[in-house]
Amino acid sequence: MEKRISSPRRLSGSITVPPDKSISHRAAVLNAIASGPAVVENFLVAEDCLSTLACLRSLGVSWSLRENHDGGSDLTITGRGLAGLSESADVLDAGNSGTTMRLLAGLLAGRPFLSIITGDDSLRSRPMARIVEPLRQMGAQVYGRDSDTLAPLVIMGRRLRGIRYRSPVASAQVKSALLLAGLQAEGETLYEEPVRSRDHTERMLRAMGAGLREENNALRLSPLAKDLAPLSLRVPGDFSAAAFWLVAAALHPDADLTLRGVGLNPTRSGLLDVLKEMGADIVVSEERIVGGEPVADLRARSGKLRGVEVDGPAVVRLIDEVPVLAVAASLAEGRTMVRDVGELRLKESDRVKLLVHELRRMGARIDEEGDALVIEGTDRFTGAVCDSHGDHRLAMALAVAGVVAEGETVIRGAEASDVSYPGFWQVLDSVKGTS
Ligand code: S3P
Repeated sequence: MEKRISSPRRLSGSITVPPDKSISHRAAVLNAIASGPAVVENFLVAEDCLSTLACLRSLGVSWSLRENHDGGSDLTITGRGLAGLSESADVLDAGNSGTTMRLLAGLLAGRPFLSIITGDDSLRSRPMARIVEPLRQMGAQVYGRDSDTLAPLVIMGRRLRGIRYRSPVASAQVKSALLLAGLQAEGETLYEEPVRSRDHTERMLRAMGAGLREENNALRLSPLAKDLAPLSLRVPGDFSAAAFWLVAAALHPDADLTLRGVGLNPTRSGLLDVLKEMGADIVVSEERIVGGEPVADLRARSGKLRGVEVDGPAVVRLIDEVPVLAVAASLAEGRTMVRDVGELRLKESDRVKLLVHELRRMGARIDEEGDALVIEGTDRFTGAVCDSHGDHRLAMALAVAGVVAEGETVIRGAEASDVSYPGFWQVLDSVKGTS
C-alpha cells in the first residue's frame, strides 16, 4: 500500500493512542499460565499481539476479544496454570514479532513437549543466540538454524535449573524469556543486565504473586510454588505510538495536539526527556496509575528544536523511538549525535542503515559512524518517494517527515504500521487541518 502525504497548514486535535504493545503481549502470555480467567481491557489488536494470541490458542489457551464501549478491545483469557499448556499441533508463527518469539521460547523451554516457533523473513533473520545460550545454560534443549542463532527455533521442553545470568545486552525480551523459564526452574534465577530495560514483566509478575526481588541491581526470581494469580488490568496507551505525534507537533509550525492516556514508564519515556532538552513544548498533566504503570496526558505544540547528544543508558530508554528522533534532529538547529545504537540494527530492519538511506531522500543530512547516528540539522525536508522496508516504525517516522516536508511524500509499504498502530493513517487524516 502506498500513502501520499502533503504538509497540512495546521495540525490539531486530541488523540487516544493505541494500547501499549509490550504490555499487551505480557498480559496475554502471563495470564495464559495463571490459575483462572482475567480481563485485559484495552488490549492492542494489532498484528504483533494477534501473533501472540494465535500461538497461545495453538497451545490450548482459550481467549476471546470483544469491542468495548470506547471503540477499543477487551481480551478475556482463561489460564489453566502452567500445566494447562499443551503441545501445538502445528508450527507456532510469531509473524513479525520478536517479543512473541523470545517470550514464548523462554516459556516453552520448560514445558514437557515439542514446540517449533517460526516467523516472517525479518524475524527469521534476527538474533536468537541471545536467548538460546542462556536457556541452554538452564538445561533447555533449543535449536535453530545457522548454528542455533536463527529461527525457526525447535524446543524440546524439559526440566530447567535456575542460573545466575549476566546478560551482555539490555533487552527486555531476553530478560522476560529468562524470567518465564525461571518460573519453572529448580532453584532461583538471578538476572543482571547492563542497563535496566523496560520492566513491564517484573511489574506484572509481582502483581501476580511471583517471588521476584531486586537485589544489588540484579533480579532474583524464585520458582513458582503455585500458579500465578490471574491479573485483570487496563493497558495504558503506548508511549512509542505517542512519540510520532510528539515529534510531528514539535516540528510543524502550527500544531497543537493532545495525547490522552499515554504510558510514561520511566524505562520507556526517554524520548520525552530528550525532546524537552531539544526545546520541545510538551506539557504533562493528569498523571495517574493505570494497570500498575504511570500514565499521563501530553499536550505538544510547535517548538524550535536544537541538536542534542544521546548515548549509553539514555538510548535504552528510547531505543524504539530513534527513527522518529532522527526525524526531529534532522530539522533541529545544529548537530545531533545518537551514540550506542548498535541494537537498532537488529530490530525489524537495520534501522540505522535504512534511516540514513530514506531520510536522505528528503534532504536530511544524516550519516552513520560506527554505531552512532550523526545528524546535521537542516531547515527543510523535500517530499520524496520513500519505502518502509516492511518496518512499522520506519513507515510512521517517514510519515512524520512527510507531514512537515515541502511537496508531496509517497510512502511505499505504508501498511507496515499495522504491526503496532492500526488506524495510524486515519488518525493522521483526522489531525490535519486544511492543506
Ligand atoms: C520489547 C523490547 C525491546 C523493544 C521491542 C519490544 C518488548 O526489544 O525494542 O520493540 O516488548 O520486550 P529488545 O528486548 O530486543 O531490546
